[in-house]
This record gives sequence, C-alpha cells and structure tokens, in this order.
Amino acid sequence: MCGIVAAVAQRNIVSILVEGLKRLEYRGYDSCGVAVHQHGGVRRARSTSRVAELDTQIQEDHVEGFTGIAHTRWATHGVPAVHNAHPHISPSLDDARVALVHNGIIENHEELRAELRAKGYVFESQTDTEVIAHLVDYYYDNDLFIAVKQAVLRLKGAYAIAVFCRDEPHRIIGAREGSPLVMGVGEQGGENFLASDAMALAGVTNQIVYLEDKDVVDLQIGKYWVESRVGDGFARVDRPVRTVYAHSGAAELGPYRHFMQKEIFEQPRAIGDTLQGIESITPELFGDDAYKIFKDIDSVLILACGTSYYAGCTAKYWLESIAKINTQVEIASEYRYRDSVPNPKTLVVTISQSGETADTIAALKHARSLGMEYTLTICNVSTSAMVRECKLAYITRAGVEIGVASTKAFTTQLAALFLLTLSIAQVHNRLTDEQETEYLRSMRHLPVALQAVLALEPQVIAWAQDFTRKHHALFLGRGMHYPIALEGALKLKEISYIHAEAYPAGELKHGPLALVDDQMPVVTIAPNDTLVDKLKSNMQEVRARGGELYVFADADSKIESQEGVHVIRMPEHYGVLSPILHVVPLQLLAYHTACACGTDVDKPRNLAKSVTVE
Ligand code: G6P
Repeated sequence: MCGIVAAVAQRNIVSILVEGLKRLEYRGYDSCGVAVHQHGGVRRARSTSRVAELDTQIQEDHVEGFTGIAHTRWATHGVPAVHNAHPHISPSLDDARVALVHNGIIENHEELRAELRAKGYVFESQTDTEVIAHLVDYYYDNDLFIAVKQAVLRLKGAYAIAVFCRDEPHRIIGAREGSPLVMGVGEQGGENFLASDAMALAGVTNQIVYLEDKDVVDLQIGKYWVESRVGDGFARVDRPVRTVYAHSGAAELGPYRHFMQKEIFEQPRAIGDTLQGIESITPELFGDDAYKIFKDIDSVLILACGTSYYAGCTAKYWLESIAKINTQVEIASEYRYRDSVPNPKTLVVTISQSGETADTIAALKHARSLGMEYTLTICNVSTSAMVRECKLAYITRAGVEIGVASTKAFTTQLAALFLLTLSIAQVHNRLTDEQETEYLRSMRHLPVALQAVLALEPQVIAWAQDFTRKHHALFLGRGMHYPIALEGALKLKEISYIHAEAYPAGELKHGPLALVDDQMPVVTIAPNDTLVDKLKSNMQEVRARGGELYVFADADSKIESQEGVHVIRMPEHYGVLSPILHVVPLQLLAYHTACACGTDVDKPRNLAKSVTVE
C-alpha cells in the first residue's frame, strides 16, 4: 500500500528517496512520484510505471535537491493515473509553493474541497490528498509547521503526511493520525528523514523515532521538534529514539522465480526460527505478565484480516479442544463497527504479519475502549504499531515477506498460535507433562515434515496445468482443515484471478453442489482424521455430478486415484498440527497456476501487502 519517504539534508537526497521507494515497492502500488526543492522552486516527477522507470525519468531530467518527498500510491480516491499520483502541489502548477504526500483516507475531503474551491483553489486530481495540500497552502503564513498544525485540525480520517514549502527550503513537516509514520535521525550532516516504515530508511539510518497518533514533527538540518495535538492545541512531546535494525527489504531471489516461491520454500527455516530455543512450554514466552493474564482469562477473542484471519480460525479449533477455552474469531473490519458484548476477562489476540493493518489496529483499540485490557499480538515485525500497542507479544521469525500473498507468515503464525494454545492450557491445568513432551516433539519435527511436503512440488505443477483452463474452483475441508480450505481458495484467487470459494464439506449439499459440473475442479483436503469417512461421502456427492476431484490425502487415508479423482499423498499424518502441512501444497497449487496463467505473482493486481488504510 502507499509508502512515504522524505529527507532534509545537505546533499542531494534524490537517490535516497528512490532507494526508499524501492524498499517499499513490495507493499503494492500503482503509481509513484518525487518532489524536491530545486532552483528555488518545487520540481516534480511522477509515473504510473515502476519506481525504476521513475528513477530513469528523474535522472534524465536532472531532478536534484537537498530537500524532498517521495511516494508510492495505491489508488483509493481517483484512478491510477499521473494526475492523481503524489506529490500534490499547491496553489497551482505554475506557482507551486507547497508539495505534499499522504497515506490514508480523508473522510471529509468533499466538504473541504467545496470550501477550498470557493476560496479559488483549482483541483488537478480526484484525490483526497490534494485537499490537504491546498489546505496547508491556505494556512501558510511564512511558517510551514504552523500551517500544517492548522490544516490537520480540519482533517477527519486517517493520514500520514510529509510536506515541504518552496519558501522554507531546509524544512520538512510530517504529521500522522491512524497511518504509520517514522522519523529517522540522520548519521551525517544533521540530515533527518521521514518514512512510512523504518525499512525504507535501512542503509541510511537505524536511529528511528516512532511518531504517535496526533503527532506533528518539524524536521530541519541538525534538529527536530515533535508536538502532539491536545484538543484544539498542540503541546511539545518527547518521543524516544530507538535503534532499529530494519531488514533492507531488498531480499535476494536466489534460485527462485518469484519471492512467493522463495517464501514457500523458506517455511521449514521460518518455522524452525519461530520455535527456536523453546525447550518447554511457559507463558513467559509471551511476556512477563503472561502468567497472571492467562490465569485470569475465561475466553479468547482473535481479531485479524486476510490470511491472518484464517490463522485465527484454525487456532480456534486448537484453543477450544486443547486449552478448552471459549474462542471467538472476528474479521477486524467487522468487529470494530458492530455492537458486541465486552468481557474484561477475555484475552484479545491480534494476528498480523505487518503489525500495521489499519483495521486490525482499530479493532484492537475498539476492544480496549470497551474495557478489554488483556491484549496480545502475534506479529512478524517486532517494531510495529501492533507490538507497541499490546501488553503481550509473540514475534514470529518468518523474516521479511515480500510476496503480497502471505505464505511463511501464515505457517509461522500457526506455530505461534499452537504455542499460545499450549501455554493457556498449561496455566489452566489442561496440559499434562506427557502431552507437553509429545506436542513439543511434533513441533520440533515440523521443519523436516515440511521439507517432505515441499518435495511434492512436481506433482502439484502437473495439476496446476489443469487449473489454468478453469474459471472457478471449489475448496473443501472439514474441522480445522476448513480454514485451510479458505486459505487455499484465497491464495488461488489472489494471484491467479481464478474465482475460488471454500466450503466446509458438509455444507456442499446446501448450495454449492448446484455449481458442480465437469468444469468445476474441487480441491479436497483429506487428512486421515475422525472426519475422513464423512469427507469421502462428500466426495461421492461431487463425483456423482461429474465434478473433478483434486485430493490432498494423507498416506493412510485410503483414497485412491481413479477417473475424475486425482490424489496427491501427503508424506505423513500430522495429528492436530496437520493444518500447517496441508496448507503448503495449496500455496504451491496457487503459485504454479498463477505462473502458468502469466500473472504478476508477487504483486497481484489491485492488492497491497500492508493495508494501512481502512
Ligand atoms: C493484505 C495482504 C494479506 C494479509 C492481510 C492482513 O490483504 O495482502 O496477505 O493477510 O493484508 O495483513 P497483516 O499484515 O495484518 O497480516
């Protein structure tokens, strides 16, 4: 999703801005742009192509400057087009005084647009962002910091902005509310930076200040100043400088064709790292206060979006069957807006790869506002907002995930959620020493078991050819493999654009069976568990209607290949941890189908990696 980089320095910062944008590219975007202070004015370059193309344009046009802002845009208001790309300028193209980039959504933009039009401002884009640029210009009276503070008081919605002004060449102002923004304290010449993510500044500085909601920051050479909004005014605040070793994001592909494939194959390592050093189950794995909190809770509420939501749905089966604790899983964007019955003895668990998903953060804050103070996050980014907002945390060690379609983040989330299940079970005296030993043994063996599953890739590639000719696919699973079916369908639709739906197999005859004919592939997850015989009956229902079955069966589930029934055998049955293995061939199926369809696998159309707007 949208990314921001900004710099004020005593050297040409254009290459730093471009490099920062490249580091944020993996989040997904559809246009990009840069504006710098040059020759006493504002110089701008924008593109609807890749950052590399923007870079060429900048070099050809000799765009250079000591102060500048840059942006990758993921369209919300207005189509992806150059005139909608950021930076936006004000008051006009011929007289550019203010240049601004923005992440987030301004909800009262229509009302502000009407007001600014009446004052004579002419709009060149359909974006909500241009409203902020004009607003800052309107309030500008020789002090950009004051103008931005006045402007943000008028905004409703979410924003992270970076602004500079032609008349104050060595100054950048940033502000945030609801969208992430960090400041980087430079290591040479008093330079300072802003970015939507510390990763964008890797290689430039690791001295990071995490700005908080309502903060406005004034960046100059050798100094900066942060104020935070209190009512209709602002008060000086100190925000700590942290040393952050952000990954560069410029990960190497190695022998792989795409990051998604690389990340699928990294799963044995990622799970191994996530579970590294765990000799026994103890609540302290989640934080110092975990014992006290786990002891006091009588239920769990999981909040998440996308793939992380499906990890939560899987964990519900574990938490209720092993820890015997009532568990509810909610899509964050739904929970935050519905009336619910709060329970202060609930452990609120957010699951997020990025730790920055706007809806999940808002749902967490909503739960807290209802008096639920026991909060825990399972997150892949230790410096993220989600980790900072929660009392307890478990950091998965998947490593940077570049592919928009989440893979290794999902399986490491499952590993962490299983640990959480065992820890809560232990505190509630529902885990014997023998069970603990057995579960830990199974978890330690996961990397080896995953390697064996990855070896199935050639068989999955053969199936993928069949899927490229299809327009729809059904995924079936039962019990804790139903969320895995959901995740398999999500993967396929995200990257191959083939319509896919998942159903708990028992629901087939209540609707989706009407869709089944010889054009409908039905992917079935068939572990050898207590539901396997019921699943076999569901498969018969599909075959009787001419549907073609693609079955991922365990070694001993006695499902044989025959006409219309294709079977790939999983190397071993893995008991309650089976979802972690069964999702992997579904990731591979989606990946190879997408490759055969020729889509942009790592950056599927219309999607973003980190969804920092509502
Ligand atoms: C986006 C990504 C998904 C991800 C979801 C939630 O939609 O494309 O891969 O599952 O956001 O993101 P989070 O970072 O909170 O896990």
